[in-house]
Amino acid sequence: MANTRIVVVGAGLIGKRHIEAVNKAEGVEMSAIIEPMPSGKEVAGKEGLPLFQNLTDLLKAKQPVDAVILATPNALHVPGGLECIEAGLPVLVEKPLAESVEAGRKLVEAGEKAGIPVLTGHHRRYNPLIARARKIVKEDQRLGKLTIVNGMCWFLKGDDYFDVAWRKQKGGGPILINLVHVIDDLRNIAGDIESVQAISSNGTRNHEVEDTAAILIRFTNGALGTLSISDCAAAPWSWELTANENPAYPYTDQSCYLFAGTHGSLAVPNNQLWRYADDKRGWWQTIYQEKQNHPVSEDIDPLIVQAAHLGAVVRGEAEPIMTGREGLRSLEATFAVKESAENGGKIIHLKN
Ligand SMILES: NC(=O)c1ccc[n+]([C@@H]2O[C@H](COP(=O)([O-])OP(=O)(O)OC[C@H]3O[C@@H](n4cnc5c(N)ncnc54)[C@H](O)[C@@H]3O)[C@@H](O)[C@H]2O)c1
Repeated sequence: MANTRIVVVGAGLIGKRHIEAVNKAEGVEMSAIIEPMPSGKEVAGKEGLPLFQNLTDLLKAKQPVDAVILATPNALHVPGGLECIEAGLPVLVEKPLAESVEAGRKLVEAGEKAGIPVLTGHHRRYNPLIARARKIVKEDQRLGKLTIVNGMCWFLKGDDYFDVAWRKQKGGGPILINLVHVIDDLRNIAGDIESVQAISSNGTRNHEVEDTAAILIRFTNGALGTLSISDCAAAPWSWELTANENPAYPYTDQSCYLFAGTHGSLAVPNNQLWRYADDKRGWWQTIYQEKQNHPVSEDIDPLIVQAAHLGAVVRGEAEPIMTGREGLRSLEATFAVKESAENGGKIIHLKN
């Protein structure tokens, strides 16, 4: 079957990685780039791809396209996604799916009504390290009844990261840009979230948006969790620095997520599983680190897997793994964190 032809909208930081991923993935190929800024010319020239200012121009020019990857700033996800649905084009929308839950719901419902696949770009869903953790915790329940979860997203962004204005304004900030990934990881591995409570601070960077937040989570399965994020913490405990997923981030062999239940505990991504001998459980006994039998290849790039999956969905060979609706659930939990932090740590119950 012919390759699925992809248009990447927004050739910025992640857009360029999507182009690279599509170039490497099976069953898909780049058709064109949409990028209104002068930088678009350079990217299109380097890739040897046609460049357009917007989707209307591209469609008018009859450029072949089967699907779109939307890698624009957050506020443009819903308008861009709706435009794709109207044009009958399946679309993978970068995370966060939308800049509000209401807007995200509008996008998801429009896609469902039109029968056009809308996927959310939570690429970690395609990461075998996450899949392995999900199998141990959720599917095989090797930790017993899950009781407690700890997620850390601590890193130091360089000051030049904030030269791009939207990243430090309303709609940007580490809760919407980074925490949404962590929340999606925890939902995927541990289960759905029932409620959240949060406090946040912008006291170090003094941007309009937060730089640090601390969060309490109640999962629907009864487990509790703590989650913390800071983009001004000189520390290795984040997915970015521990998963070896993106060569831009130097790797450390640490973990950023901890899961524990009545029978064991797991560090992710370094996959240390701790358990007691079956007949000797309890804190006066020795807890052992179990030898793991779940090797995963270190060099799988989830963005490439995601691009191939998008192609398979468009060709009708696969059902979307990370739908717009799933993205909406993670988005709702993320906005609940913001709402709680803005209301003195009020408990916010989720609806979706
Ligand atoms: N999945 C991930 O790990 C990941 C990583 C980084 C960013 N993101 C998400 O990707 C999105 C983009 O982030 P970024 O850091 O690449 O931002 P960026 O600012 O580097 O890139 C965005 C690009 O979109 C372009 N753009 C602006 N308006 C446009 C329009 N109307 N049409 C087409 N292009 C337009 C900009 O000129 C810019 O080149 C954000 O939603 C962000 O949250 C996801």
